[in-house]
Amino acid sequence: MKNFYNLNDIKDINQSIDEILDIKNNIGKYQKIFDDKIIGLIFFNPSLRTRMSTYKASKNLGLEPFFINISNNTWSLEFEDGKIMDSSNVEHIKDAARVISNYCDIIGVRSFPLLKSKENDAEDQIIKSFIKYSNIPVFNMESSIAHPLQALTDLVTIKENSKVKKPKVLLTWAPHIKPLPHAVPNSFVRAMKKMNFDISIANPKGFDLDPTISKGLKINNDQLDAFKGVDFVYAKNWSSFENYGKVSSNYNDWIVDEKKMAKTNNAKFMHCLPIRRNLVATDNVIDSEQSLIIDQSENRTYTAQYIIKKLLKNG
Ligand code: CP
Repeated sequence: MKNFYNLNDIKDINQSIDEILDIKNNIGKYQKIFDDKIIGLIFFNPSLRTRMSTYKASKNLGLEPFFINISNNTWSLEFEDGKIMDSSNVEHIKDAARVISNYCDIIGVRSFPLLKSKENDAEDQIIKSFIKYSNIPVFNMESSIAHPLQALTDLVTIKENSKVKKPKVLLTWAPHIKPLPHAVPNSFVRAMKKMNFDISIANPKGFDLDPTISKGLKINNDQLDAFKGVDFVYAKNWSSFENYGKVSSNYNDWIVDEKKMAKTNNAKFMHCLPIRRNLVATDNVIDSEQSLIIDQSENRTYTAQYIIKKLLKNG
């Protein structure tokens, strides 16, 4: 694996999960193996978990993390090829990526979509430009359309908590006040398909995911019906794909509550966080014994450690 852009970069997903769990259970075995290397962590957008878990993973491996918050403490970047740079952007990605490659041994990039143009967001220009122009490995810390570190972590968390080999997993849309990206649900569905888990999706009409992602899956517009008998409930909001980037306040009854969870097979509750309490899910669900949200955030460190180690060993 030269770069980690999405889950397709992983050849053997089961082996990856086993290795991540080995890191978790034998953390001493994986300490300080890359002394004197520098990891650049480039953020175009806010983060708590990704920022802290990649920091911790880097320190565990013996790497020195260097955070770059674009537009905040560095020059604003231009991504368009051939552009006459007479507007606000100061430095072209062609130059910046090669300069960063001189100072670092590996870089992670977080860049959200603008949610204005489906076509532009699908190009995933920022991370793909870093991959194109960098001379070192690049990994995705959530791009316009993919969040593979989160999805791989979610697989590990399901593996740890599933009583059966092929669990029934429901990805349910939940309410939100702001237009949110599709990166998390896209990568979650991709992960479930890779494992051949019994995955279904519940969302209101008009909120189907990109059909290339949800192809072949059952999409239920009746949320209560969708909860019946499932082993895992993964809640997430996403803005409309069809009416691109739009939100609606018409579906606040899609909140995940105890009544809906009672329809499941004593299901575990999952969310990538941050979660807006009592809008996406009730306090009672989030704080219940069935909730795995804190386990998911803990596992982010081991997944990051696995990916960084793999990229540096191969690079
Ligand atoms: N789940 C996740 O990626 O969290 P952050 O946005 O806080 O990094």
